[in-house]
Amino acid sequence: MTQREENFPALLERLRPECERIIAQYEQKRSALLPIMHLFQEHEGYVSAQAMNAAALMLDLTDAEVEATVSFYTLLYRRPVGKYMLQVCRGLACSINGAEDMMAYFREKLGIGHLETTDDGVFSYEEVECLAACDKASCMQVNLDFVYSLTPHAIDEMLASMRSGAYSTPPMAQSEAPGRTWAVSQESDIARGKKSSGAIGVPLPNNAGGVGDRSGIIMLDHIIDHDVEFFTKTSERAVVDSRAVVEVAQEEASHAGH
Ligand code: FES
Repeated sequence: MTQREENFPALLERLRPECERIIAQYEQKRSALLPIMHLFQEHEGYVSAQAMNAAALMLDLTDAEVEATVSFYTLLYRRPVGKYMLQVCRGLACSINGAEDMMAYFREKLGIGHLETTDDGVFSYEEVECLAACDKASCMQVNLDFVYSLTPHAIDEMLASMRSGAYSTPPMAQSEAPGRTWAVSQESDIARGKKSSGAIGVPLPNNAGGVGDRSGIIMLDHIIDHDVEFFTKTSERAVVDSRAVVEVAQEEASHAGH
């Protein structure tokens, strides 16, 4: 049993009143799942199997229901991660504003790739889908705090201040040393009997876009390659559609008049 596993029962009792306070805020117990998972992640640095099981018991859910929810979100980590989780947006607006260069810069500076953690356990790195801050592209989250308008200079300063412990966003708890990746492999789930062998070779549904996916760049390339056709078609459709809406409205009005 690891030290973290040994410490878990005491942690659970310490967090139980807070969990009960959260649960009381909702009409349905199950609605408290995400905030409770965030609470455990805050204290353990990730969402452990014990935390998921404890949540299932508190919320009258099955382990499978809890894991299905936790595995859906890139905000929750099912394996130990670095003290700083760096999640860089690879969406369309960020790609237009230089995200691919920023991602290459991070990879070079950290010596790791998508879904990987540095050997010293300080940094984890992930390229994620649109963070809904497109007006401040290119952007990222550090331990879920937003950082906007990335430049190589800003990245250098950020990494240096994280290494020196002076960065404004505090490091995450780290109850266990992280491995090279926090991705849960399909094979290990199959070996533990948590997935059927039919899942072999099937892409992971919870890995947004898939490892190495460049969805923003692909969309951007598509727009650039077909720009005239794309915009003409879109504007033509807008004209036709709006005309159709007016015609339907007029027709309905004339029927109503009779
Ligand atoms: S595309 Fe990056 S925040 Fe939307």
